Amino acid sequence: VKGETRLNEPLKFHTSFRVGGPAEVLVIPQDVQDLKRIISYLNSQNIKYIAIGNGTNLLINDDGLSGVVIKIAGNINHIKIDEDIIYAGAGAILPTVTKRASQQGLSGLEFAAGLPATVGGATVMNAGIGSLNDMSEIVRKVRIISSTGELKVFSQKECKFEYRSSRFQVEDCIIIEVEFKLKHADPKEIKSKIKELISKRKSSQPLNFPNAGCIFKNPESDYAGRLIDEVGAKGMRIGGAKVSEKHANFIVNTGDATAQNIIDLINKVQNLITKEYGIELEKEVKF
Ligand code: EPU
Repeated sequence: VKGETRLNEPLKFHTSFRVGGPAEVLVIPQDVQDLKRIISYLNSQNIKYIAIGNGTNLLINDDGLSGVVIKIAGNINHIKIDEDIIYAGAGAILPTVTKRASQQGLSGLEFAAGLPATVGGATVMNAGIGSLNDMSEIVRKVRIISSTGELKVFSQKECKFEYRSSRFQVEDCIIIEVEFKLKHADPKEIKSKIKELISKRKSSQPLNFPNAGCIFKNPESDYAGRLIDEVGAKGMRIGGAKVSEKHANFIVNTGDATAQNIIDLINKVQNLITKEYGIELEKEVKF
């Protein structure tokens, strides 16, 4: 490994919720070649592994993870621009890509300005704001390493994007690069749209506490946040985990939450909504 390797690394340092036990081994590959070598070594030794990005939509339990966690953030983060196409490494941070795009007068990534995800992580879950603006609209191609170490390219269509989901959630592979197709526009207009979206986010979401974004997907033709608010669950607590008073579809870590506190609170809210409305909310946060 040319990158970094850490033993018994607390994963709470690698998730936005700031919870999660240790990874037996955490590796941060230096580049794609390094990642290929790591995967082929792990395959040859029959060692299981998972890949994570910036951990912004991830809940890791207090026992941590056995095997190897490959962190694709910090490295593999190139951003290359050619006309209206951006090539971004899976480890690049989305708002950084958005900023580069806006400087070049490229529009389409504005919605991602406030999503602290990696390009890879956001593509896996088809991150977005609401159901309209999401990654699927601007992704042109996705390059991956398969579980057997082969490099493959998927077209937008082959990614099977749906609301907060894609083929990459079920398939054993690691995204290494995403190609975006954007549109030329006035940089001033792009910047003002970004400003507007960020201020909307600041006023409606609890960004001053560790959180993992929205906990549940919106059910068809309604909003998880609206339902959880209506049922009176805002402010509900288990240990250090609390349903945000600002946005009911957020759970915040008030400082000393365990992963179990958060899991218990998620289940409690989910049961409450099922009992009250007969709707089974689907989790957006990955366990
Ligand atoms: N609402 C309430 N109470 C609340 C929160 C919301 O009544 O506590 C109502 C609002 O008044 C509004 C409706 O619910 O009428 C929807 O709320 P909001 O506009 O905040 O949008 P959302 O559907 O809850 C979606 C995305 C967010 C994204 C915002 C940006 C999903 C599950 N959520 O939230 O994405 O930031 O739009 O406007 O699609 C995420 O995916 O992690 C995430 C946070």
